Amino acid sequence: KVVAVIMVGGPTKGTRFRPLSFNTPKPLFPLAGQPMVQHPISACKRIPNLVQIFLIGFHEERDFALYVSSISNELKMPVRYLKEDKPHGSAGGLYYFRNIIMEDNPSHIFLLNCDVCCSFPLTDMLEAHKRYGGMGTVLVIKVSAESANQFGELVADPITKELLHYTEKPETFVSDLINCGVYIFTPHILTAIQEVSMHREGQGHIAANIRHLSSFETLQSPTSRALPLDFVRLDQDILSPFAGKKQLYTYETMDFWEQIKTPGMALKCSGLYLAQFRFTSSHLLAGGDGTKSASIVGDVFVHPSAKVHPTAKIGPNVSISANVRVGAGVRLISCIILDDVEVQENAVVINSIVGWKSSIGKWSRVQADGDYNAKLGITILGEAVIVEDEVVVINSIVLPNKTLNLSVQDEIIL
Ligand code: GDD
Repeated sequence: KVVAVIMVGGPTKGTRFRPLSFNTPKPLFPLAGQPMVQHPISACKRIPNLVQIFLIGFHEERDFALYVSSISNELKMPVRYLKEDKPHGSAGGLYYFRNIIMEDNPSHIFLLNCDVCCSFPLTDMLEAHKRYGGMGTVLVIKVSAESANQFGELVADPITKELLHYTEKPETFVSDLINCGVYIFTPHILTAIQEVSMHREGQGHIAANIRHLSSFETLQSPTSRALPLDFVRLDQDILSPFAGKKQLYTYETMDFWEQIKTPGMALKCSGLYLAQFRFTSSHLLAGGDGTKSASIVGDVFVHPSAKVHPTAKIGPNVSISANVRVGAGVRLISCIILDDVEVQENAVVINSIVGWKSSIGKWSRVQADGDYNAKLGITILGEAVIVEDEVVVINSIVLPNKTLNLSVQDEIIL
């Protein structure tokens, strides 16, 4: 049997996702019309012998209750939200709930970060892991040397694929092979986490005893100093020390992979998932029945409850959520339109995310250059923003509940 655990963090994480995470936890923000966390959940569902999926985080229980019950019904697979009383780190959370996770006595545990976007080749990873042996296998990918330092950089044996060396977000370049935040482990991982925490406790005692004698701080690694005993990070505290000990292996993906820390990357990843739907769930893409002759360009998702005027032109990379109304002559390109938005006649939206219940007036334009990594590279309207008729909003972020009656460019409207 196999179980899967998806780490969903909590409200103190994901702050770069504001203002879109004010009312919706980042893992539930829709990409390609589905909550971010649903993409890894759907991938887990395809693993043979998977018996349960756990989401571990420190968001309020009520934020996830409705979602986990509906997705459990839909997939006919138990999906449970386990709430930590405080953050335990990316490995500590797993250990904290070890008894629940081991309930079914699984032989393997998948562990996934919720904020990565990829094709999740989980079954292939499991096969590879069984060939390698050891405690775990990490999904890895080659990225450009300039971008590698935002991630865990690693060195793997080209033949055996063993993880030989691991450094989390190093200041000087180590390798362009990086950690994708997708893992498979045997239950031995739980013992490894326990050891890290016990070792730290030991260090704490030594430190306390010699505190008055010398500068004890030099005895501890600078990163683990002052961390609570039960706070264990998967990367620094497990992958680094276990590298080169024939316990950890790597599986390289040649497919797409991105990390979703900002709204700009959410828009990019929404497009990647829409493109993937061509192969996995083409019934979810618009282009025929549901949209009643509105003209569709490329990959587009339109929620069945949305009303799109037949003279609107939509796509590529557009995702339209529930109860959205799109008027006559509207043009939408590369955008996410959230629930209950109204886009009035002849308005244009390009490279933007339009927040829940917002309204865009006639002949208005909401747009940006589409540089997904720049702070103002996409325009974001928070919840319930009103853009009046004939107003132009370019490369800007507008906080919730604002009304714009004048055009703005390169601004953050507080
Ligand atoms: N439940 C819970 N509790 N989840 C947590 C906690 C915690 O205390 N801390 C982090 N997480 C979750 C986050 O929500 C995210 O899904 C994942 O664990 C990793 O988050 P971070 O520890 O903040 O690391 P990161 O995202 O900056 O980088 C990690 O992922 C990259 C791939 O996306 C590292 O492992 C990098 O090496 C890796 O490249």
